[in-house]
Amino acid sequence: MAGTVVRAVPDGAEGMWPVNLRFEELDWRTTPLGVISLRRRRDRASDQDVYEIKLDEEFLMSSLFTVAETDLARLGLAASSASELDVVVGGLGLGYTAYAALEDQRVRSLQVVESLGEVIEWHRSGLLPLGEELTADPRTRPVHGDFFAMTASEEGFDPEAPGRRFHAVLLDIDHSPTNVLDPSHAWLYEVEGLRRLAGHLHPGGVFALWSDDPPQEEVIAALAEVFAVVRAHVVTFDNPYTRGASSNTVYTAVLDGPEQNRS
Ligand SMILES: C[S@@+](CC[C@H](N)C(=O)[O-])C[C@H]1O[C@@H](n2cnc3c(N)ncnc32)[C@H](O)[C@@H]1O
Repeated sequence: MAGTVVRAVPDGAEGMWPVNLRFEELDWRTTPLGVISLRRRRDRASDQDVYEIKLDEEFLMSSLFTVAETDLARLGLAASSASELDVVVGGLGLGYTAYAALEDQRVRSLQVVESLGEVIEWHRSGLLPLGEELTADPRTRPVHGDFFAMTASEEGFDPEAPGRRFHAVLLDIDHSPTNVLDPSHAWLYEVEGLRRLAGHLHPGGVFALWSDDPPQEEVIAALAEVFAVVRAHVVTFDNPYTRGASSNTVYTAVLDGPEQNRS
């Protein structure tokens, strides 16, 4: 990265630090997975503040690229024709998917499952730009837990209502169904794993999945074993680094049911 790397100026320390701050480490914590850190930097290419979360030296997410995260919610919820929606988001991250879900007025409850308590805390304390609005919305319930363990369990995603079913699950945790963050996640994207997930949905319920890879035939085939209608949407957006376009994939998969939207 270009530019001087400095930490945030502590209260009262103005003048002891370079005035032109381009990079701040807002917080870092040691977790069982490694050191997780939250940074804010001024991005020259886009001329905006960029928030980034890193796990050790690996970038987990960046606020620079959020079009597909937002479209995960938009496309996923558009695939449901239910008039009121109870929704699960898997992976809070910077909160763009959850925030976009709340923009759909049909959403009456939103469980956001996140395995890192630090990420939930950054939202609650307002360190992240969407945090205050997200956590103040009475429909939002951050749930500290492992999405995969919850999917595998009979109890599911709502610790206060075991066995509760949902109208949509929007998932953005792994890089892609075949490029997972942890090998223990891989089972979910197999047919049996998808059946498990579908068991937490109402008839006509929607599973939407973000992927960094182009549409994959094997993923579509596995989804089609369980869901009645499967689509792979390619979401394209500007990339200021390449000065070109980049793309992600959003899969939407809808169960058979009275409220199924086939569009
Ligand atoms: C790519 S980010 C999600 C980005 C999000 N869609 C957004 O709009 O900012 C993935 C998130 O999933 C969380 N995560 C990783 N493993 C998880 C697990 N097993 N269960 C729940 N959350 C997990 C990470 O800590 C991270 O916050």
